[in-house]
Amino acid sequence: MKNIMAIVLSAGEGTRMKSRLPKVLHQVCGRPMIEYAIDRLEELGIDKKIVIIGYKGSLVKRALGKRVDYVWQKEQLGTGHALAQCRKALARFRGDLLVLGGDTPLLTTPTLKKLIETHREKDALVTILTAILKPPTGYGRVIRHGDETIRKIVEEEDATIIELANEEVNAGTYCFKREAIFQALEKIRPENVQEEYYLTDAIEVLTKKGHKVSAYTTDKSDEIIGINSRKDLALANKIVRERILNRLMLNGVTIIDPLTVTIDQEVEIGQDTIIYPFTIIEGKTKIGRDCIIGPAVQILDSKIANQVEIKNSSIQNSIVESEARIGPYAHLRPKSKIGKRAKIGNFVEIKKSTIGTESKVSHMSYIGDATLGEDINIGAGTITCNYDGFKKYPTFIEDQVFVGSNTNFIAPVKIGKGAVIGAGSTITEDVPPYALAIARGRQRNIKGWAKKKRTAKAQK
Ligand code: UD1
Ligand code: CA
Repeated sequence: MKNIMAIVLSAGEGTRMKSRLPKVLHQVCGRPMIEYAIDRLEELGIDKKIVIIGYKGSLVKRALGKRVDYVWQKEQLGTGHALAQCRKALARFRGDLLVLGGDTPLLTTPTLKKLIETHREKDALVTILTAILKPPTGYGRVIRHGDETIRKIVEEEDATIIELANEEVNAGTYCFKREAIFQALEKIRPENVQEEYYLTDAIEVLTKKGHKVSAYTTDKSDEIIGINSRKDLALANKIVRERILNRLMLNGVTIIDPLTVTIDQEVEIGQDTIIYPFTIIEGKTKIGRDCIIGPAVQILDSKIANQVEIKNSSIQNSIVESEARIGPYAHLRPKSKIGKRAKIGNFVEIKKSTIGTESKVSHMSYIGDATLGEDINIGAGTITCNYDGFKKYPTFIEDQVFVGSNTNFIAPVKIGKGAVIGAGSTITEDVPPYALAIARGRQRNIKGWAKKKRTAKAQK
């Protein structure tokens, strides 16, 4: 898009959030809300983007990096004051300014496009994005003359009872002709309940002079929701979540109960995968085709291949290859890799370990810092003792090893291909290929011992 620049107002603290984090960094479906605004601007093809930062501005800068330029508003004296800080940066720019708040993450690209088109078609000095909200509580009200032309915007705190009843609200998103706005901003005064320089007051400055102010009223009123409190944040999360789930369902993913499923914006899921209730999929997770995920699964930043089944489990930063079975009640901790058709069963924890193709860790085990080959069977209750209180050590288990139940591997240790470990062993030394290792106390049966004891007790 040509002859247009965008400015995102993001210097405010967001007092109503009651948070130490600047408001625009609070997350909606796994991403800081301000990133939604920047995404839309990129989709519109607006190259020059300025974010106005102030309260903990360096944190905002760190989050957005080089995607945008920054202008500081050292003291947060209101939205009008914020925009005025750009005067210098825009000194040589002649064109339209798209101004939006960093706290309205639900706006969509088509709506912003319509706003800009309306602004250009009507050749207005200002075009305001508005919506009809029932109730309009919390927003600036758009006041029109009898002939429907815009007169002013009045903030809720400063409105009369009659103005409060007006259901047309200001989205806080505007298109300005650059020349017009900075002149108007010079005229505004902080003479209102909040003692702030309101950007909205610039509207009346212009209309009073007889300038043309127009509006684009969207019928998608959900889109204009501004996030001021944690309650608003929950509502935004709900709406974005619905959008994400709808997109996935349209692309061929079954979501049995969308009300109990949360999936982050950047997650990818393949066709015919089924998501069962109470499942949370976060970060940059990628899930393949024909998988069954859930119920009650939480996956973060992981890669799951095709035809994988995961039940009641938690997975972080891991890779699961095709046709593997995970859970119920398994925990894959970061840097784990589960091979094709492998099985990680009930109450098993895997940490920073590789489990080869078709290997099975089916019941109540801890496998940490280990490399397991293919076709291995790990018996119930097997533990890799990878930590001596000072350092971590690795365990290597080669292909086709059979490990009897309740085995401890005191790492570092290596088990050769095809070896068998007797149940209950505590393995402290390497085992050669195809050997049988048993490391436990021999059993002794003492004939008649219990009978004697019982008789003695009965005679007392
Ligand atoms: C603002 C509008 C209101 C509109 C609503 C839509 C004004 C005076 N009011 O109210 O008409 O209905 O948005 O959501 O503009 N900011 C700064 N510097 C400041 C103050 C604010 O950069 O000194 C930024 C904030 O970080 C925020 C945005 O401007 O991203 C809006 O500020 P906020 O305080 O949330 O305004 P509202 O009260 O919601
Ligand atoms: Ca707001």
